[in-house]
Amino acid sequence: MKLPRTVDWVEGKVVLIDQRALPEKLTFVECESVDCVTEAIKKMIVRGAPAIGVAAALGLILSLKEGPSYDNLVRAAEKLKRTRPTAINLFWAIGRVLSRAKSAISMGEDLYHAVEDEALRILEEDERTNRRIGEVGSELIEDGSTVMTICNAGSFATVRYGTALAPIYVAKERGKDVTVVALETRPVLQGARITAFELGLEGIPVKLIVDGASGYFMRNHEVDLVIVGADRILRDGTLYNKIGTYSLAIVSRHHRVPFYAAAPTSTIDMSSKKEDVIIEMRDPSEVMFMAGRRIAPESAEVLNPAFDETPPDLVTGIITEKGLIRPPFEESLRSVMC
Ligand code: MRU
Repeated sequence: MKLPRTVDWVEGKVVLIDQRALPEKLTFVECESVDCVTEAIKKMIVRGAPAIGVAAALGLILSLKEGPSYDNLVRAAEKLKRTRPTAINLFWAIGRVLSRAKSAISMGEDLYHAVEDEALRILEEDERTNRRIGEVGSELIEDGSTVMTICNAGSFATVRYGTALAPIYVAKERGKDVTVVALETRPVLQGARITAFELGLEGIPVKLIVDGASGYFMRNHEVDLVIVGADRILRDGTLYNKIGTYSLAIVSRHHRVPFYAAAPTSTIDMSSKKEDVIIEMRDPSEVMFMAGRRIAPESAEVLNPAFDETPPDLVTGIITEKGLIRPPFEESLRSVMC
């Protein structure tokens, strides 16, 4: 793949592709403090569940530059956790680094080296895991297929390869022709600005459509399968992903188009219940304005949920690095996660 890493650790800095600038410019932001990483997650300079988890883990290394103490680490972790509430990967990655730090302290190891080692492991594992998701998912894609996707669950949402797009990259490497139908994904347009851009760079044909057009293309039999990413998957298979995913799943079911979620097992949350999951509500200005221009009257009340919940009975399967997980999810997820 031609794309560089979305998140990386270079000479003691967290280097992030600035996703706000896509598709016009491929530029990078360098963070030397955990506050810089925290702001980057809030402002969606870095976005996508696995990518924000990795960025937060690397941000924790930076927090120790301000003083190598466990208290500093915990304070930084609390700030990072307050950035975006829905994707579990953020909390998973922070939890992993904190528990490694705790055990380093109890074993008398150097705190900085333990935190750095764990965060860099999370970084490296992400790329390997996504590659494996690609190998598992590519088996579902036949030569000549058209795959529909929403948002960006590609390389830019992870360190590299992506989750929903990884099967497409591997299928292409294996000589299959694949076309992607990308939903533009209002209001932040991750489908138009990011998915269409990265697929173009990687030489994969992409048809960009507005969010409301998914049914039109399915009704005309122009879609073979849908693959979406995930921000969190509960133990019964309930899927949280970008707003519009639920509607897409319903349209897919109506037209008997298989609907898959692709995610690393770090996105699977075996302990939360539906009522514990917070759906991020984003700023109304994302809906009210487009390219700096007001597109709705001030009098309109804007509701801007960033994610939605898709019930497991609409999900055909979950593509993970540990294999394809089929319903009944309660049982199959338990056996994969134990
Ligand atoms: O608001 P975003 O752009 O962070 O939302 C991203 C998504 O919803 C992705 O589908 C999800 O994080 C999976 S990324 C591999």
